[in-house]
Amino acid sequence: MKIEVFCGTGGVGKTTMAAARAISLAENQKEVLLITIDPSKRLKEILALTNDDAGIVKEVDLLENKLSVLLMSPEKTFQRMAQKHGRPEITQNRILKILAGPYGGLNEILSLIELNEQMQANYDVIILDTPPGSHFLDFLESSHKIKVFFDKSFVEIFQYLGKSVDYQHLNLGNKVMKFFVSSGVKKLLGYLKSVTGDIFINDFIEAIQAIYITQKSFLDATKVEEQLKDSEMTQWFLVTSVEQSKHKQALDIKSKAESYISNNSVCLVLNKSLKENLTSWEPQNNKLKEIKESFLKKENSLTAALKSQFSLFLSFPEIYSLDPINHIEVLKEKWNTNSIKGIL
Ligand SMILES: Nc1ncnc2c1ncn2[C@@H]1O[C@H](COP(=O)(O)OP(=O)(O)O)[C@@H](O)[C@H]1O
Ligand SMILES: [Mg+2]
Repeated sequence: MKIEVFCGTGGVGKTTMAAARAISLAENQKEVLLITIDPSKRLKEILALTNDDAGIVKEVDLLENKLSVLLMSPEKTFQRMAQKHGRPEITQNRILKILAGPYGGLNEILSLIELNEQMQANYDVIILDTPPGSHFLDFLESSHKIKVFFDKSFVEIFQYLGKSVDYQHLNLGNKVMKFFVSSGVKKLLGYLKSVTGDIFINDFIEAIQAIYITQKSFLDATKVEEQLKDSEMTQWFLVTSVEQSKHKQALDIKSKAESYISNNSVCLVLNKSLKENLTSWEPQNNKLKEIKESFLKKENSLTAALKSQFSLFLSFPEIYSLDPINHIEVLKEKWNTNSIKGIL
């Protein structure tokens, strides 16, 4: 099984490109799962996804090809995980609900857990669309965060809570208060208790306990980190478009994700390239000729700068249509010819 990850800043075409790549592979008889994060409204329609499908793998027919598609939903992943550990009720915990909800701190970690689960199925290729820029970097860091979180000192607290706190009896606050007597946390919890009452403290302890109970899922997910770093298994596509500012952001992502993205595992994808169209354009007056030359010059210097930084480089044209289905269709064909050329 191979993983292909599409990353880059917002609006460069990651989701579109990932979908086109997925169809191209499906057309070449591969079993493909496309995991997408934030498709636009139209792209959701094209992929036959609704918010009700979030978190569930769906079989779709797209441009005459069969494809599995999953709209990532941290909430659903969390629910499944709780179920798996025999504790469905923990999804009702108010603190965990916030953490697993939109923009909650557990989102990236839950994405990693979901990816790990999907990797157990028999796909030839899993295509992973990622959130833009900084959220994507959070996603990469989440494996490290899990390890830090379950580091020895935390494990001791969890073990204490797991053994000594009887989940069925709601007198959790006092017991944990006793435990924290020797630590500075006592003062904080005492203060919180006086402000929020037992309920918050109980929710808090229950949340920590729930994470302890489900820790195997978290720790299993950290194994994905190794696979994402393995260039035999994972192909990274760093997507950018021809604007200068996007180019700088792409280089920024590359340097921040260096421990994952090595030179032989990343391919730069320059999207919305004007070169192809400009080259075949024969303007009839001087002003237009100047415009053509100036655009070409800009793109050539940008391409040269990017090529000096990336050993694998693919370029995809700007498509003059307002409907993303046309974008996907043209980009899919382009992926086919790129693959045939033996680049990937
Ligand atoms: N090569 C292209 N030519 C023209 N439009 C494109 C191209 N690639 C993507 N788009 C369009 O750009 C917009 C942003 O694409 P999207 O895939 O949602 O970007 P991202 O996921 O990086 O935020 C969409 O409307 C998409 O259809
Ligand atoms: Mg997107």
